[in-house]
Amino acid sequence: MASLLVLLMFSALLLATAVTKSEAFSKTMKATYPGHKPEKLTHLHFYFHEIISGDKPTSVVVARGPTTNSSATLFGLVAVVDDALTSGPERTSEEVGRAQGMYASADQNQSALLMAFNLVFAKGEFSGSTVALYGRNPITSKKVREMPIIGGTGAFRFGRGYAQAKTFVFNTTSGDAVVEYNVYVWH
Ligand SMILES: *[C@@H]1O[C@H](CO)[C@@H](O)[C@H](O)[C@H]1NC(C)=O
Ligand SMILES: *[C@@H]1O[C@H](CO)[C@@H](O)[C@H](O)[C@H]1NC(C)=O
Ligand SMILES: *[C@@H]1O[C@H](CO)[C@@H](O)[C@H](O)[C@H]1NC(C)=O
Repeated sequence: MASLLVLLMFSALLLATAVTKSEAFSKTMKATYPGHKPEKLTHLHFYFHEIISGDKPTSVVVARGPTTNSSATLFGLVAVVDDALTSGPERTSEEVGRAQGMYASADQNQSALLMAFNLVFAKGEFSGSTVALYGRNPITSKKVREMPIIGGTGAFRFGRGYAQAKTFVFNTTSGDAVVEYNVYVWH
């Protein structure tokens, strides 16, 4: 009986040694990660300028599907974007960053975009930091549209949260739009 107990203890010890020696797939950091301070919630408020008209558009269509032109929702259209983000709604107000990425018309029945964007900030403490936005944007919805924030760099490392978008101005002649954004990020 005693020898069985010793054997059990010995094999448990062997097992423990084997586990600690193997390379861990994941590890919970006990201390804060270097360069990462304890979490805080940051609220960002800015206006997104979608310029498709004129000779200097900041949003260009790069692809259409064979049925895009006959689709009421332009299903299959893909655009690449480098839109200005400003602190106020006017195009001339202070530029705080850019929205760089692309969107695709991904709904056959409603005007809804798949948005994949990096919000690249250029002002103040967030200069050089980015936030990754990815989600569904039903652009014609009168209500606030919500999209996930799925990550970030620099000041926004470990970032997660949500963005709320609301059309501020839509020019039906030119197709240009100004969209108000409220972004909340835990980081
Ligand atoms: C769809 O419309 C665009 C823009 O008006 C045009 O350039 C393109 O040739 C059209 N594509 C098809 C397949 O009709
Ligand atoms: C969505 O649109 C497609 C293509 O027009 C149609 O076949 C489908 O039935 C529609 N679905 C719904 C839920 O309305
Ligand atoms: C809408 O766009 C048209 C064409 O670019 C322009 O002439 C007009 O001034 C714009 N309207 C507003 C309210 O900005």
